[in-house]
Amino acid sequence: MFEAYEDQCIIEVKEVWKSYSIKSFWFKKTFFYALLKVSLKIKSREVVSLLGESGCGKTTLGKIVLNLEKPDRGEVFWFGKNLKSLSSREYRKLRPQIQAVFQDPYSSLNPRLKVKDLLTEPYLINISSDRKKALAKAEEVLEKVGLGNEVLEKYPHSLSGGQRQRIALARTLMLTPSLIVLDEPTSALDVTIQAQILNLLRRLKESLNLSYLLITHSIPVALYLADFIVVMYLGKVVEIFKKELFKKVSHHPYTLLLFNSRPEVISKTDKKKVMIVQEEVPSPFFRPKGCEFFSRCPEREKECSEIPPELKVRPNQHFIACHKR
Ligand SMILES: Nc1ncnc2c1ncn2[C@@H]1O[C@H](COP(=O)(O)OP(=O)(O)OP(=O)(O)O)[C@@H](O)[C@H]1O
Ligand code: SF4
Ligand SMILES: [Mg+2]
Repeated sequence: MFEAYEDQCIIEVKEVWKSYSIKSFWFKKTFFYALLKVSLKIKSREVVSLLGESGCGKTTLGKIVLNLEKPDRGEVFWFGKNLKSLSSREYRKLRPQIQAVFQDPYSSLNPRLKVKDLLTEPYLINISSDRKKALAKAEEVLEKVGLGNEVLEKYPHSLSGGQRQRIALARTLMLTPSLIVLDEPTSALDVTIQAQILNLLRRLKESLNLSYLLITHSIPVALYLADFIVVMYLGKVVEIFKKELFKKVSHHPYTLLLFNSRPEVISKTDKKKVMIVQEEVPSPFFRPKGCEFFSRCPEREKECSEIPPELKVRPNQHFIACHKR
């Protein structure tokens, strides 16, 4: 992900910080950081998966990539171009190439529109106002997602969850995207349907040369689709590794904790390091001075509570933020 990629880099997020403010108990406004100095690169035809517990900032980072949220600090580049310096004409040209599919296919599709209109709408707005062409494209993408033309006249409520997610995917394909942000794309579906959608995502990636930013809680899903796995903890990236190296490198203690739920995927040496950990997750409002994972880490030492570990590069495009690795 971080090698010589410049000519084919689709997305680059550079040292991005994002804060939110909320009203606290006494209606006092307080703010916290949902993302802290996060960097990410996604090359053409690459699948990067964001993995981490609820609230660690995965969706926020996805929104930053999609330009649905603006960072407080840091830069976002699409195809090497800084979003801050794009003219509105340039932005309109690039916008269709970065698309998203969200978790819930029930709420992401307008229930009042037929599939025909759901599919042609983005094309008519962004590509061409020619209805005939839009319909021809809709039929083409339906075939790509494994559905027949008979669904064109249907409303979302008459489709199954899996079919709806295929329509959500088809809608993005109408715009011939380069990258799709997939935010928990299968977690609302039954297990068998999940497998079908994951297979479809893999096939589409190969046949259409797509890149994905795959946001997931699920280790099997990340291992199935991703080239790189980015592990986040409390708004920070703590580890980045190539999928095929997951048993071959020594992982971050937090990654080991996540992977501990799937013991068959950790190496023998790392298995010994996974011990009972405290379950106390620090609040993003009161961040510890040193390592954020200190309170739960079985390998912690005194220096960990004093100095926050920086994300450092190791051999084989492995990045890790831990004093003991
Ligand atoms: N618009 C917002 N206003 C205030 N706080 C927000 C907002 N969006 C997200 N947050 C907070 O930012 C933090 C990160 O949220 P985010 O949705 O990115 O987490 P996540 O990793 O996607 O979690 P999940 O796995 O549950 O979807 C959370 O504490 C969340 O409550
Ligand atoms: S820096 Fe220390 S506390 Fe943090 S993960 Fe590494 S060993 Fe654990
Ligand atoms: Mg989320």
